Amino acid sequence: MPTDPAAFTACLTLRRPLDGLVYRFRRVDPDTFAREDRPELSLRRHPMLGWSMHDPLSGELTGRPWDDAQRHAPGAPAPGVWVSRLGAKSHVYELTHGEPPAGEAERIRIRLAQPGDLAAIAAFDAFNGDRAAEVAAATCLVALDGTGQVAGYASWTPRGLLGQPFLAYLCVRPEARRQGHATSLLQAVQQQARGRWLLSSTEDWCAPMQTLFQRLGWARCGALLGINRDGSAEWFYRVALAARGRG
Ligand SMILES: CC(C)(COP(=O)(O)OP(=O)(O)OC[C@H]1O[C@@H](n2cnc3c(N)ncnc32)[C@H](O)[C@@H]1OP(=O)(O)O)[C@@H](O)C(=O)NCCC(=O)NCCS
Repeated sequence: MPTDPAAFTACLTLRRPLDGLVYRFRRVDPDTFAREDRPELSLRRHPMLGWSMHDPLSGELTGRPWDDAQRHAPGAPAPGVWVSRLGAKSHVYELTHGEPPAGEAERIRIRLAQPGDLAAIAAFDAFNGDRAAEVAAATCLVALDGTGQVAGYASWTPRGLLGQPFLAYLCVRPEARRQGHATSLLQAVQQQARGRWLLSSTEDWCAPMQTLFQRLGWARCGALLGINRDGSAEWFYRVALAARGRG
């Protein structure tokens, strides 16, 4: 029988202090924790590198503890600082054992939308489009608030424009707005979409979306003048995706 408490740890949490984004992992075998929302992204004990994460397609190293001592901890990676790297982007996380502490860390959780979320989405959805098809295609993410309720969703079309992924819809429940849900959803789509650019568009008057894009490093890349029913222009935006998604 193992005596180290880490050997019994069933769940790990990686929390990004920058924006409160939280990823949860469940133990699936003695040497593997699978990410709850994307089980193919696992945190494993590598024979040489110790506890680490690798891209499932390329095998490239995508995450590891900052301190070498954490890497070879028995049972589970030791709590502490974790770093990720995807293409040109790198992030710092706090790794803890068990469920995230109540409060801030659980404030926003992002996961793939499931058929059971459709009714909750429909209650605040401002848009057309086929949410059920997007859910079935795994191109819709939901943000859950601290109580586990669906606070918003974002969906994208993998080759929506010029062969590049297109962020099609982003909507947050009115009473959950200005709490960072859209920011977290947009960042998560940027991580999930595959291509050279993630593209999107918004009306020339939609200041909230324009601010969101600018804050997350998107650049305006064109406009269709007078294209909307109200006579407004549609402004197009783009952000470069990490090298792993290039294609
Ligand atoms: C636009 C929308 C998705 C933003 O969602 P959200 O969860 O409130 O956004 P966030 O909390 O992540 O906001 C991030 C930043 O965007 C800007 N922003 C968001 N809403 C804003 C508003 N109504 N007015 C001005 N700026 C706004 C702010 O700079 C905000 O940061 P701050 O709260 O620290 O000032 C939401 O208002 C919504 O669902 N609107 C209706 C649907 C829609 O218009 N979707 C976009 C289609 S193009």
